[in-house]
Amino acid sequence: MTATAETTAGSRGSQPPVPDGAVTVTVKIRRFNPEVDDEPRWDSFDIPALPSDRVLNLLHHIKWYVDGTLTFRRSCAHGICGSDAMRINGVNRLACKVLLKDLLLKDKQTTITIEPIKGLPVNKDLLVDMEPFFEAFRAVKPYLVTYGNEPTRERIQSVADRERFDDTTKCILCACCTTSCPVYWTEGSYFGPAAIVNAHRFIFDSRDEGAEERLDILNDVDGVWRCRTTFNCTDACPRGIQVTKAIQEVKRALLFKRV
Ligand code: SF4
Ligand code: SF4
Ligand code: FES
Repeated sequence: MTATAETTAGSRGSQPPVPDGAVTVTVKIRRFNPEVDDEPRWDSFDIPALPSDRVLNLLHHIKWYVDGTLTFRRSCAHGICGSDAMRINGVNRLACKVLLKDLLLKDKQTTITIEPIKGLPVNKDLLVDMEPFFEAFRAVKPYLVTYGNEPTRERIQSVADRERFDDTTKCILCACCTTSCPVYWTEGSYFGPAAIVNAHRFIFDSRDEGAEERLDILNDVDGVWRCRTTFNCTDACPRGIQVTKAIQEVKRALLFKRV
C-alpha cells in the first residue's frame, strides 16, 4: 500500500502546512497486525519532511495525519528512555536520534525502510515484546548486592574504582545491541550483550559483593561464551558503550577469577 500525505485513507486530522525546503520521503514500514495478518507486509507512505527531521518525526506524521493504526513505542523523544529502538535502513537505531539528512545523503536516496528490531516477538508493527530481553536483564542481578551489616554512612568509592565501570553505567536498556547480535537471533536463550553489560556494571563495582554469583550465571551455556566477538553490538549502541569490550572483560574475570 502507498499512502500519500495528500490522499489519506484513515487520516486522523487536517494536514499541517508543508514547511519550506521540505522533500518528499518514502517511508517503507514493515507492518504486522496479528488480528488480520498471517505474515508481515510492507506499507509505504510519502511524507513531506525536512532534512533536520528525525525519523521519529516522520513516524509521528504518519500516525497523526495518515494512518492512526501505525504502532510503535516511544517516550522521551530525546535519546534518554531507550524505547524507540528499530531497524532503520537495516541498522538498529533510536528513531529519535537519527536525522533524515544523515539517511538521505547517499545517492540522494529518498526512501527509508523501518522494521522492528530482530529476535524478539512482534506484537504489532514496530512494537516488540521486550519481556525476553528484560528477563535476561533481571537474571544477572542488575543491582548492588551486599552482605553483612548495613553501613552507617555512604559506601565510599575512589574515583579510580568508579571509573572502572563508568562506561557500562550509561546503558538505557534500548536493546539495540542484543537485537543486532547474530547469536541472539539464532539462540534466543543467549543472555545477550545488554544483560552482560548490566552485569559488568556491578561485577566491577568495588562496593558490590555479588560478582561471584553473576559470574556463575554468565558462565552458563547461554552466558558470555556464546559471544563470537563480532562487534555488531558495539556498533549498534546509541550510547557509545564499548559493549564487546565489556563482554571480554567479563570473560577475562571468569578465566582468571579476578575482577
Ligand atoms: S560481539 Fe558478541 S554479543 Fe556482540 S553482537 Fe557479536 S556475538 Fe553478539
Ligand atoms: S548497551 Fe547500548 S545498545 Fe545495549 S541496551 Fe544498553 S544502551 Fe542499548
Ligand atoms: S523516545 Fe526515548 S530514546 Fe527515543
